[in-house]
Amino acid sequence: MEGTRPARVAIVGVGNVGSSFAYALLLSGLAAEIVLIDANERRAEGEAMDLQHAVPFAKPTRVWAGSYADCAGAAVTVIAAGAGQKPGETRLDLVRKNAAIFSQIVPRVAEANPTGIILVATNPVDVLTYETWRQSGLSPERVIGSGTILDTARFRAALSDHFGVDPRSVHAFIVGEHGDSEVPVWSSANIAGMRLPEFCSANGIRYDRDAMEAIFVSVRDAAYEIIQRKGATYYAVAAGLLRIVEAIVRDQRTVLSVSSLIRDYNGIDDVFLSLPTVIHREGVDRVLRIDLSVAEFDGLRASARVLRETIASLREEEAAEKLA
Ligand SMILES: NC(=O)c1ccc[n+]([C@@H]2O[C@H](COP(=O)([O-])OP(=O)(O)OC[C@H]3O[C@@H](n4cnc5c(N)ncnc54)[C@H](O)[C@@H]3O)[C@@H](O)[C@H]2O)c1
Repeated sequence: MEGTRPARVAIVGVGNVGSSFAYALLLSGLAAEIVLIDANERRAEGEAMDLQHAVPFAKPTRVWAGSYADCAGAAVTVIAAGAGQKPGETRLDLVRKNAAIFSQIVPRVAEANPTGIILVATNPVDVLTYETWRQSGLSPERVIGSGTILDTARFRAALSDHFGVDPRSVHAFIVGEHGDSEVPVWSSANIAGMRLPEFCSANGIRYDRDAMEAIFVSVRDAAYEIIQRKGATYYAVAAGLLRIVEAIVRDQRTVLSVSSLIRDYNGIDDVFLSLPTVIHREGVDRVLRIDLSVAEFDGLRASARVLRETIASLREEEAAEKLA
């Protein structure tokens, strides 16, 4: 634990995503205590029992099914509660259902742990991270959405396949919404500091724009493809959540594409979306104001607009409910 006090991580919602993350977290040895909370208490108990039986093969870790009071003192509370996409459904289609679920969860997490960090995975993740910030009263640095960490991983994996190098040696980001309006940052994508066209010419291969576009489309639509085949996606997002929690618990200052509050960035304001972000013990250290091409900026602003409109529609519904 690198000289720090034992870290408690709370997980609210232990379905596919929450339990996969709990399993990855347990095997990582990063947390000394893992508390599982779910509206379906039996499910949380069953997951806790199953995970406890893996402890002898992992590191000493206390795992239990708990209540919101157990979020007290957690270094991070991960929220993965709520409905997932059904085949053909977009992430934004989930917003009403999951916003209602969040209004039951977030105030209780914040009450138990008013100085903790909340990491949101539930979709639509950017909008629900905004709602978490509003409802929790936490400072914005302490509210993070998994955002495009998964899309960026998919992007790096696909580029790695195409160019035949380790994905860890491919540096490229997807920014904006974790969803249909996300934006690939081609202008700075690189391998060993060489932008992709330079990498191609240095290696005597053609820079194939159509292949690059097909890679992006496969990344953007990956969830639809996986959901059609197995009903849900969870392993890769669980690994992404683990990476974010590691950066927090170990104070690593890692640059990750996660969703955070964006203020006054080239016409984008008061919205949570993903940009390369330095993550440390206190949550968001800073958002990197990267150079984007004109087309990339246009894409990012369009993505921000989609998210702002969704947030505005939630506010309108709230106001209408108050009047009714
Ligand atoms: N951010 C990402 O990259 C990413 C990737 C995959 C899935 N997701 C999202 O994660 C969410 C969860 O997906 P899943 O496949 O794990 O769903 P799931 O149905 O398997 O699990 C959801 C869990 O939430 C619990 N829950 C529901 N209402 C609750 C409440 N009020 N309080 C506490 N717990 C409650 C349910 O009992 C269930 O155990 C979905 O919104 C999905 O779209 C996000």
